[in-house]
Amino acid sequence: MNRRYRKTVIAGNWKMNMTATETKKFAEDIRKHLEARPKWCETLICVPACNISTAMKAFKDLRISVGAENVYFEEKGAYTGEVSADMLKDLGVKYVIIGHSERRQYFCETDSTVNKKVHAVLNAGMNPIICVGESLEQRETGITSEWIALQVKSALFGVPADKLRRCIIAYEPIWAIGTGKTATAEQAGEVCSEIRATIRALYGARVARSVTIQYGGSMNEKNAEELLAQPDIDGGLIGGAALVPEKFVAIINAANQE
Ligand code: PGA
Repeated sequence: MNRRYRKTVIAGNWKMNMTATETKKFAEDIRKHLEARPKWCETLICVPACNISTAMKAFKDLRISVGAENVYFEEKGAYTGEVSADMLKDLGVKYVIIGHSERRQYFCETDSTVNKKVHAVLNAGMNPIICVGESLEQRETGITSEWIALQVKSALFGVPADKLRRCIIAYEPIWAIGTGKTATAEQAGEVCSEIRATIRALYGARVARSVTIQYGGSMNEKNAEELLAQPDIDGGLIGGAALVPEKFVAIINAANQE
């Protein structure tokens, strides 16, 4: 973390978990564990679109904001089942996860659709959390750096510097997601600093140092502190551990240091 130049952001990603009823229960439980409202880090949970309003009400006085897990890039029209950026914005959403590896894998998202979604979210005045990450095969072949640089460049294509400050990049090695296998703090820190170097080459040092870069992939209450101690890791995108109030609170506490 480096709070001098950028925000620390802890974001839960609930994926396709939690009904509206379970969301209310989670808020009650987390209230019991959260001793102090997070002050030094921005905290949010990205929930399924149908639970956004319920979560907003339930988390209101906890200083936990509510994000979305996906968006469609067209403004409006005949796209049955999709949700637009304006619809999310109108509900009070500030952050939207884009290009999660599960969406790339199961829902045919490409670097090109990711880029369109980034623009849609920025144009609506919200903040995209852009996910990038390599597969185990890519890591073992030794092409992690090139692959991640390509994903970052494609996602940010056409994004001007003043809007880039609103983007968060989440480095999520696919082999670490939901597997219990975390990248070591050094491995994660190394890729996150390469991401910053890619942004620096595109936008200059000033902009690059202001961008929040998260790590995601089996981040939990045990490894959060070590990961967050890396200078270029400014927060986390947390799946499994964000479904368990005690664990999520422990991660918030690890990031909520003065
Ligand atoms: P995980 O998921 O923490 O369960 O590995 C992270 C994510 O997919 O964002």
